[in-house]
Amino acid sequence: MGGRVTAQRPDGTGAVNPPPGTPLLQVEDLVIDLPDPQGDVVRVVDGVSFDVPAGTTVGLIGESGSGKTMTALAVIGLLPDRAATGGRLLWRGADLLRPETDWRRVRGHQISMIFQDPLAALNPSLTIGRQVGEILRRAGRPRAEVRRAVIDLLDRAGVPDPERRMGDYPYEFSGGLRQRAMIALALAGNPALLLADEPTTALDVTVQARILRLLRSIQQEGLSMLLVSHDLRVIAHVADQVVVMYAGRVAERGPAAEVLRRPAHPYTRALVASVPAVRTRTALADPLPGTPATPAHRPSGCAFHPRCPLARDRCRAEVPPAREVAPGRWSACHFAEEVLTP
Ligand SMILES: Nc1ncnc2c1ncn2[C@@H]1O[C@H](COP(=O)(O)OP(=O)(O)O)[C@@H](O)[C@H]1O
Ligand code: SF4
Ligand SMILES: [Mg+2]
Repeated sequence: MGGRVTAQRPDGTGAVNPPPGTPLLQVEDLVIDLPDPQGDVVRVVDGVSFDVPAGTTVGLIGESGSGKTMTALAVIGLLPDRAATGGRLLWRGADLLRPETDWRRVRGHQISMIFQDPLAALNPSLTIGRQVGEILRRAGRPRAEVRRAVIDLLDRAGVPDPERRMGDYPYEFSGGLRQRAMIALALAGNPALLLADEPTTALDVTVQARILRLLRSIQQEGLSMLLVSHDLRVIAHVADQVVVMYAGRVAERGPAAEVLRRPAHPYTRALVASVPAVRTRTALADPLPGTPATPAHRPSGCAFHPRCPLARDRCRAEVPPAREVAPGRWSACHFAEEVLTP
């Protein structure tokens, strides 16, 4: 990472053994600056905060370009080199954004990531079994044990006939099977948090449903997950908590079922209304009005104001801070109460 854009807080060292009940991951005021092709610095993530408590799945939702992927990449230390970051990413109480973080001990072992495109993540010249077993071999586990563990992992991820298929190369796997292999690889180091960035977006609907079922079964084993998706149906299916992002900021966050049933932000309301399967009373969808704001051209005040039916002067002038508008419900709308009780 290129550097930091705000000063570290005095207490920024964090604790190695956090008190019980501490969230696994605390994202505090995360800022990510990236230079665009013209060399202008763009704040692609602007003060994002949320927690991932142990054993829960947090869904990160928002239209394309809202900063979801950059947020997830920051958590696993894979931002582009020229990115500068600010805020804190507390992992079990210790800040991952400190330069001394040893990512080799975190990645794969504590936090793993699966991507939309497994081909980009898998090595085309190594067998699936070799790749899934890599982290175990590096840990010095004996050959026979690694083999057994790989078969187990592939089986758990739903790869049929794992003993035979572990000898295949990625190109011999279908898209759905590759996604399963990548999930097996991500689970090999026994991480506590799985980051999943649009894990089903590239798959056809039936395969998508199977992968979602697999993610749910992984969840039931107690793994925490940060699930990134632009698809509200995916989030509604899997997430306990939801964080709604708009133009690099959090619009709203809270328990997924409540947020989707009774949004506290006009953007969430519009998102929900645009998806027929989430909107229960009617099969008709209202497409989201206008075009998404981009971080490079973020409107003044509330970035959603050009598209918001409730916008008024204050919205154009003042950035709405995130407020707790009901227990556990946070909204960055000046008029959240009006949205909650229309
Ligand atoms: N490598 C990059 N360099 C500069 N800007 C980027 C890069 N990748 C993405 N961006 C910009 O960062 C913003 C956030 O992107 P991203 O996190 O990928 O959004 P999302 O995952 O929500 O679709 C976008 O506006 C995008 O244009
Ligand atoms: S702050 Fe204003 S523009 Fe933004 S979402 Fe709320 S009402 Fe709409
Ligand atoms: Mg993305």
